[in-house]
Amino acid sequence: MRLSSMIILGIDTSCDDTSAGVVIDGRSVLSSVVHSQVEVHHPHGGVVPELASREHTRNIIPVVRTSLTRAGIRLDDLDGIAVTVGPGLVGALLVGLYYAKGLSYVSNIPLTAVNHLEGHILSIFLEEDPPPFPFIALTVSGGHTSIYHVEGFGRYHLMGQTLDDAAGEAFDKVAKISGLGYPGGVAIEKMARNGDFDKILFPRAYMEKDSLDFSFSGLKTAVALYMKKWREDRKKDDQETTLADIAASFQESVMDVLVHKAMTARSRTGVRSIVLAGGVACNQRLRERFRSAAAAEGIRVYFPRPEYCTDNGAMIAAAGYHRLLRGESADMSLDVRSKFPIGSPPL
Ligand code: KG4
Ligand code: ZN
Repeated sequence: MRLSSMIILGIDTSCDDTSAGVVIDGRSVLSSVVHSQVEVHHPHGGVVPELASREHTRNIIPVVRTSLTRAGIRLDDLDGIAVTVGPGLVGALLVGLYYAKGLSYVSNIPLTAVNHLEGHILSIFLEEDPPPFPFIALTVSGGHTSIYHVEGFGRYHLMGQTLDDAAGEAFDKVAKISGLGYPGGVAIEKMARNGDFDKILFPRAYMEKDSLDFSFSGLKTAVALYMKKWREDRKKDDQETTLADIAASFQESVMDVLVHKAMTARSRTGVRSIVLAGGVACNQRLRERFRSAAAAEGIRVYFPRPEYCTDNGAMIAAAGYHRLLRGESADMSLDVRSKFPIGSPPL
């Protein structure tokens, strides 16, 4: 049995946030530092991979340094360094990986490779009251929409995933065509608060019977076509439908599918808990919908706080802790993977 605790530094540069966090035993967060690149990518209406890599290069040293200072520790207090090696943008991932390799090499601290999605699933363990195993995890972010049956640390069974756009990507694209800018999730949610979600019946892609997969590209196209017509008609006469109604109706159709599929996975497995993770899990309407669905079935739903839903290094430290406990350390030949199904070995 382990008696002493382990302090792990987690680093994530998988997309457009440079982040680092220090966590004890995969549970207690000593620090979580995130440098957002929103201002850099905003004028382009989405993440520009090359700009993301350059920004990570610029910010990785101060972000890691700040995470150690805020945690009140020095580099040699660390028992391990965990770094995201995928899935994500290759150029962005390489910055975090090579920085982590350098730190590990010069300080002789064990390095471990983390799957970004495992980080999202385990972000709930950074909270005081995590769920018991087994549970259903719905990871909804800009790059992923997946349902896992989680039996324990390192034991994740994929039950369904998006076949095209991720839920967050649909929010971002609809925000872009609505002129609400990037990033879109927060803007759509804000706009939707003043709208009527029953106003327009956008399609819900439930797929074939029994399928737990998702598809959001048809919905995105439906909103784009509706918006085009709405803009043309608006020129002719005053009409009742507002942009807020469109945002609310779009948001509700995403929510309906997410709630239906996650609840189906729950009843199919018989587990008593659902965990929501990833950037879209910040959405208050999504939280509300899951709270009432869970109450109706007498089960519990868990959400990490918003700063642990969006990308952060602390969740990578939590996942890295369990990998190191299992003896899964990496050497200097470690490489990144743009596509990286959970459970498959790192390169
Ligand atoms: O987990 P995350 O920070 O990065 C990825 O791993 O992709 O998620 C970012 C995504 C973006 O698509 C963003 O629009 C979405 O999460 N998002 C939201 C909200 N806040 C962030 N979507 C809906 N409602 C929100 N409040
Ligand atoms: Zn993420």
